[in-house]
Amino acid sequence: MDPVRGTYDLYDKEMLIHSEIVETLKYIAKNFDYSEIKTPIIEKSNLYNHSTGDSSDIVQKEMYTFLDKGNRELALRPELTAGVVRSFISNKIYGKRDPQYKYFYYGEAFRYERPQKGRYRQFYQFGVEFFGDNSEYADVETIALANSIISKLNLDSKIVLKVNSIGSSSEREEFNKLLRKYFSKYEDDLCTDCKTRLELNPMRILDCKIDSKKDFFKNAPTLKQSLTPDSIDRFVTVLNLLDDMDIKYVEDETLVRGLDYYNDLVFEFVYDNTYTLIGGGRYDSLVKEMDGPQTPAIGFGLGIERVIEAFKTENQELLDEFSNKVDIVYGGLIPQAFPIIIKSMTNLRNAGLVCSCLFEKSNLKTILKHANKVEAVYLVIIGEEELKNKEIKVKNLITGDEETKTLESFEVDIIKKDY
Ligand code: HAM
Repeated sequence: MDPVRGTYDLYDKEMLIHSEIVETLKYIAKNFDYSEIKTPIIEKSNLYNHSTGDSSDIVQKEMYTFLDKGNRELALRPELTAGVVRSFISNKIYGKRDPQYKYFYYGEAFRYERPQKGRYRQFYQFGVEFFGDNSEYADVETIALANSIISKLNLDSKIVLKVNSIGSSSEREEFNKLLRKYFSKYEDDLCTDCKTRLELNPMRILDCKIDSKKDFFKNAPTLKQSLTPDSIDRFVTVLNLLDDMDIKYVEDETLVRGLDYYNDLVFEFVYDNTYTLIGGGRYDSLVKEMDGPQTPAIGFGLGIERVIEAFKTENQELLDEFSNKVDIVYGGLIPQAFPIIIKSMTNLRNAGLVCSCLFEKSNLKTILKHANKVEAVYLVIIGEEELKNKEIKVKNLITGDEETKTLESFEVDIIKKDY
């Protein structure tokens, strides 16, 4: 049976790369004083109506919702920010470490999208949420963290950081009014999605891949016309700070993000002109709207699959290093060898070495082939002759050197690592 459409299994090399990348991301976030948070995969589905937003594609058409056996309406989380904010409020995390709270997370997310390269129905997100600091420095520090991830994974050369300011909620309301008025004239020419957007959130028409290519799009009102001087000043300060930190960006007036909770700064790191690896922005009203205390916040999320895909393309020379390393492969050529081997493996495993043994099909050829496949460093053979002489045959598979010695001396030497 195949896995469900849009999902996939992780094992062997891909699993190793995945884990290594996640560890790297966690390490960088900790370096920026973030702590890990884990929230449930299932939440009440209306959590997302009230946060991610009724007008977002995610809530409109991509959410996996179901009734549980107690008739509760639940959802598999389509993103992790809403759950983190819910947790921030329901655990009263606010007030515990005034005034800043910085959390990173990693876990599965689910969206009923059309599967294609870099787009899955079950995927993994890593993200950060920074609560309690409304300054432009917090904006820039958050982008700097995302930028560190890009640099650490050696993706800089093909990344474009796009930034925009979508203003406060009242400015956005004003802008939406202008857009609604303008696009209503072209309603018949809008794509099906944008017809709905016209009603719910006209700003989303701006990042529509279909309608943005149409002629009437060129004279649409621009966001800047609706921003107050304060919002523009704030944005300019952020841009100046990015310049100071030598973080390259492009301003993109059409960048509005697909989730409803954002205000002011929004940003995306786009790889190779194809897909967004990292997306985020400020969301200063969400905690309050979800019945918590007024708390400014900013964060971003990234898709692990997309980051891995980009990492593999840009770092092909490193990929060979991702393999399960085995230190010692044992081979028993007669059944009486195995009790001795099991004891020896226990000793060396306790000392932190990776040992394995083929208990069946143990002829020399198979054992040697296996040892080479798992890239073992040592091959230890115990056959009739060795058993009789209370010795083992050891082959260093890197140098090719072979010798016969006692098992005890091999163990002592290899633990001392001066073998
Ligand atoms: P988002 O832009 O919806 O934002 O998703 C963030 C990232 O998740 C995307 O840039 C992409 O790399 C990845 N992603 C999204 N959908 C898929 C998919 N179907 N398959 C694979 N990867 C995907 C958020 O989710 C916000 N919570 C980000 C955020 C955090 N904003 C503030 N804090």
